[in-house]
Amino acid sequence: MHRILNTKVFKVGPDHIEIRFIEEAVKVIRDGGLVVFPTETVYGLGADTFNRGAIVKIFEAKGRPLDNPLIIHIASTDQLEEVVDLKFVKLDVYRLMEKFWPGPLTFILPKAQHVPYEVTAGKNTVAVRMPAHPVALKLIELSRTPIAAPSANLSGKPSPTLPEHVIKDMMGRVDVILDSGETLYGVESTIIDLTRDPPILLRPGAVPVEEVEKYLQKKIVVPDFARGIAEAPEPLSPGMKYRHYAPNTPLIVLEAEDYSNLQGYVEKILEYISVLKSSGKKILVLASRETENLYRGLDANVLVLGSRKNLFEIAKNLFPILRSIDELGVDLAVVEGFEERGLGLTIMNRLRKASGYNIVKI
Ligand code: TXA
Ligand code: MG
Repeated sequence: MHRILNTKVFKVGPDHIEIRFIEEAVKVIRDGGLVVFPTETVYGLGADTFNRGAIVKIFEAKGRPLDNPLIIHIASTDQLEEVVDLKFVKLDVYRLMEKFWPGPLTFILPKAQHVPYEVTAGKNTVAVRMPAHPVALKLIELSRTPIAAPSANLSGKPSPTLPEHVIKDMMGRVDVILDSGETLYGVESTIIDLTRDPPILLRPGAVPVEEVEKYLQKKIVVPDFARGIAEAPEPLSPGMKYRHYAPNTPLIVLEAEDYSNLQGYVEKILEYISVLKSSGKKILVLASRETENLYRGLDANVLVLGSRKNLFEIAKNLFPILRSIDELGVDLAVVEGFEERGLGLTIMNRLRKASGYNIVKI
């Protein structure tokens, strides 16, 4: 159970940032309270990393299982030593930080002794990143402590990318919400475990793993997120095993072997839908700008995720659209698949999770 709090909502930016509102949030962090703050990926639900009581409140507010650890957010590389055991950090890790921070890339590294096990869910590693958002950076800097924060959604829901999502999920559960409008990427950070050699991708995110590989000049292991891993007995990242982003409406991902013949692909989707419709089901199709016209004439709702030529747009629209599915009063939603390159890997990971791995290859 969570306590009912009197949540204050302050508008900070994106254009004009009122420092006094951030100062109010800093007081809350210092007093062991909870602050929702914007990042360049999604909104975060933050507390003082070193205040055990405050950390426990994060799990209560989200309804998050205690075995799913949090990401620690820092505002400068000087803060790294407060959370990471620097003995084990090698030169190529610093090179990655220099290139990608501040930005949507999270590293798993050995933890510093003083990081409470409540933050790491009992692990000897920490997840750490420096967000590229002026409000987040100012909040961390003035709080003079690294801020531990998961995404600011109720557990199981898509991460919040718009202030109204944060307000819907977190009103009465946190002390302050810093509203800075829509977030830039709309999808969470990429997580790479650097405690392993070769490093391993734990969550595809806003930075394509290929870009990180190029800089590291080393292969990064990309697990097969499509199958198995969600049910693995001991997932590499605890977050992998939970159903996520899921609408109540059943969702099916219709995947192709190859997306070069879109016309042929959509014909198969239409065939698949016609079988479903014969049982009288109301259907929603999540399509792309390139294919939406091919569904004309079909008696079904069609929503456009964005253009296949602009996966950034699709990634950004994904969570708001997943959140809206249940409001449309359909019996079933089907979504087109995307090629798993660059942000396509991230998009497919979120879609498959949202569907509860309800995947059909057509
Ligand atoms: O973009 C983001 O990463 C956002 C913003 C707020 O920074 N945060 C976010 O946090 O998405 P969250 O809690 O929703 O996801 C954190 C993920 C979880 O899947 C968790 O299992 C994993 O990071 N994680 C955290 N610490 C870990 C560790 N020590 N080892 C392996 N996985 C870890
Ligand atoms: Mg999350």
